[in-house]
Amino acid sequence: VRVAVFASGTGSNFQAMLDAENLACDIVLLVSDKPNAPAINKAKAHGIATLVFDPKGFPSKQDYESMLIEKLRAKSIRWIFLAGYMRIVGPTLLKAFEGRIVNIHPSLLPAFPGKDAIGQAIEAGVKKTGVTIHFIDEGIDTGPIIAQEEISIPPAVSKEGLAQRIHRVEHQLYPKVINQLIQSEG
Ligand code: GRF
Repeated sequence: VRVAVFASGTGSNFQAMLDAENLACDIVLLVSDKPNAPAINKAKAHGIATLVFDPKGFPSKQDYESMLIEKLRAKSIRWIFLAGYMRIVGPTLLKAFEGRIVNIHPSLLPAFPGKDAIGQAIEAGVKKTGVTIHFIDEGIDTGPIIAQEEISIPPAVSKEGLAQRIHRVEHQLYPKVINQLIQSEG
């Protein structure tokens, strides 16, 4: 099963997929909307094809998503895994890959959607947060939830400290859930 990962930034979740010993799919493409995203070099280091695009170079989201769909189809991509992809997926791409675009978010959705979910949780003073993996829909971090894992927030934790705890969980959970999704397809 051939899959693509979309990342705008560091790509530590992408790296965790690459490092997973028993990933049930082949990551054949890394897509990024940011030319300097460290995720791109991680792909290159693994001999994975990259597709870097500038959304500003297209008249509309529909136009760049049509381009993406063409490239994804050319590579026979079945699943799209978003890993720190900082763009809202529009109806064009959603429809082309209905039920096969998955995102990871650093909170227990529906709590703290959107940007800086980790900062939001600290700000709110809650005692626990977590990680959510979900199918995406037209909303921001609103699609059907596939898996969640709770993380307790120690008193007076720094944002960096909490981010580290969250990333550790993400790096275990995402490859596991990817395998479950792929295996459930048979
Ligand atoms: C992760 O915390 C993920 O939950 C969120 O963006 C972050 C990406 O981190 N959607 P990385 O680029 O995988 O290190």
